[in-house]
Amino acid sequence: MAKTRKMKCAIIGCGTIGNTHADGYAASPYGELVCVVDLVKSKAEAVAAKHRVPQALTDYRAMLKDPTIEAVSVCLPNYLHAPVSIACLKAGKHVLCEKPVALNVTQAKAMQAAARRYRRLLAIGVVNRFHDNVNAIRDMIRHQELGQVYHVHTVFTAHRSIPGLGGWFTTKSKAGGGVMIDWGVHFIDLILYCLDFPTPVSVSGAAYAKLGRNMRDYAYTGMWAGPPNFDGVCDVEESVSGLIRTKGPNIAFEGAWARNIGKGDMYIEFLGEKGGVRLQYGGNFTVYTSRDGALYEIQPSLRVGSMFQSEFNSFLQCAATGRKSPAHIDTVIGTQRVLDAFYLSAKKNREVAVR
Ligand SMILES: NC(=O)c1ccc[n+]([C@@H]2O[C@H](COP(=O)([O-])OP(=O)(O)OC[C@H]3O[C@@H](n4cnc5c(N)ncnc54)[C@H](O)[C@@H]3O)[C@@H](O)[C@H]2O)c1
Repeated sequence: MAKTRKMKCAIIGCGTIGNTHADGYAASPYGELVCVVDLVKSKAEAVAAKHRVPQALTDYRAMLKDPTIEAVSVCLPNYLHAPVSIACLKAGKHVLCEKPVALNVTQAKAMQAAARRYRRLLAIGVVNRFHDNVNAIRDMIRHQELGQVYHVHTVFTAHRSIPGLGGWFTTKSKAGGGVMIDWGVHFIDLILYCLDFPTPVSVSGAAYAKLGRNMRDYAYTGMWAGPPNFDGVCDVEESVSGLIRTKGPNIAFEGAWARNIGKGDMYIEFLGEKGGVRLQYGGNFTVYTSRDGALYEIQPSLRVGSMFQSEFNSFLQCAATGRKSPAHIDTVIGTQRVLDAFYLSAKKNREVAVR
């Protein structure tokens, strides 16, 4: 039997998600993590120590010079996705860049152009596309089991979950936005993927920045990506709502990192003529249908693997074989276009076309 080729890979950014990538590469039969990079040396060194990685660097440009490294994960704050991914592609590396693609469509298109020009794979960390339950729902919709799906409704809300107040997550120039670009991107992408990418037509969105702006007044019990930096900036929305019209179903959404309601939820509902599906985000789903006058509620039970491990394995295999990745940049640009239209709509306070 042919031996599986282990592609030498590197990670740039050893924060929360960089650690997940490191665990994934270490566990993958298709990769070998040989270099980790972080501006903060101790972070790179910690990941290197955990996984016995030979190189821990603070400047990614030094890593780019190593021709034996073929694949790179870009796990950096959003404003660095475009410049660093493009530099990696130019250096001949395949890239798995975390979500969102970038701050805006202009940057996303520059990344796509670089992938084409340098003939390397650029995959995006739209990890829900690798969730077995999500793919089961996508298959059901494809096989018309719900009939015509005419509407999707999604909620991604929390009571108190603004991340790292005053840090890069809440700084528009570094994050591109707040809850919509950070959490909303996962939900919108998952929905477009399950619907087989209907052309988005317009967005009518509203964005609210009410609870985090006066940082010292923000009451909370815990803070991920914290602690707060009161010398920093919070100029992004923490709450959103809106409607996306597509050439297929409409998509209504409600999202919040924080709001003055003590309950949060995360789900997606697909409404079809013959049946509906309610997916608890990251979890199980229920199918609702009727037959011969009877109502049915079905809770399928699937063997669900790790979506992250599937994402990393897929990236490495597609990079090695040239097979088209399910998270290929060409299929994620549409999600970024919806995000851009959302922010424009919220700014103009009216419905805008998706360009
Ligand atoms: N797919 C997911 O579910 C998921 C989950 C979390 C985060 N993310 C995405 O991953 C990205 C990173 O998020 P995070 O939560 O890990 O952030 P983080 O702040 O925890 O980590 C970012 C790391 O990048 C380092 N860094 C910053 N500038 C650098 C530079 N120029 N060179 C090298 N290192 C640099 C920082 O020191 C930090 O360790 C974001 O785009 C975020 O949206 C995705």
